Amino acid sequence: MSELRIYSETNPGKAEAVFTRLEDIQTALSEIDVAFERWEASKLLDQDATQDEIIEAYRDPIDRLMKAHGFKSVDVISLYADHPQRAVMRDKFLHEHTHDDFEVRFFVEGEGLFNLRAKGRVYAVRCTQGDLLSVPAGTTHWFDLGPTPQLKAIRLFTTPEGWVATFTGDRIADRFPRLEAPHYDAFKRAAA
Ligand code: LAC
Ligand code: NI
Repeated sequence: MSELRIYSETNPGKAEAVFTRLEDIQTALSEIDVAFERWEASKLLDQDATQDEIIEAYRDPIDRLMKAHGFKSVDVISLYADHPQRAVMRDKFLHEHTHDDFEVRFFVEGEGLFNLRAKGRVYAVRCTQGDLLSVPAGTTHWFDLGPTPQLKAIRLFTTPEGWVATFTGDRIADRFPRLEAPHYDAFKRAAA
C-alpha cells in the first residue's frame, strides 16, 4: 500500500502526519507542487525484462505523458534482490540530490521510498505499483530501494540527457527512516 509520511526535517524520529488515502496523499504533496496519481500498471513482465521491453509494454501511458509534459527521454530502473550491484545502487540514490529539469516516476512493479525535502519538511512517499510521482525541477530528494530491491520504475525527463543529478552532500538519508524488508505487501506479480 502506498503511504506518505511527513516529518519536520529536524525531527526524523516522529512523523507529523501519515496518509494512505489517495486524496490525502495528493492534497499533502500538492503543497510542495508534487503531483501524485494512480495509473494502470498491470503488465506481466519478467524480472529480467529489458529496458526496451518494459518501455514497449507501457508505450501508451509513456506516449500520453510525453505529449502532456513534453518529455524528451525515458529510462527504466529495474532491480531485484539478486542484483549484484544492489547495495551500490541503493547507496547512490540515498545521496540527496536535485535535477535541473521536471521529471516523472511511474512505478510499474514493486516499490521504493521516495523522499522529497521542501519547506522544512521531508515528505517520505512509499510508492507502489501504479503510482506516478512528479519531481519538480530543483526539488531536493533521495530514494531508497531497500536492502532487497524489487522495483520496476519508468523515469521521464524533459531533457534529452536523461538522469543527471546534482548532489547536495547532505547525508540526510542517514538520519531518516529507511525502507526495510520485507515490504512488498503490494507486489502483485508473484500472486498473479
Ligand atoms: C531518481 C531517484 C532515484 O531520481 O532519485 O530517480
Ligand atoms: Ni533523483
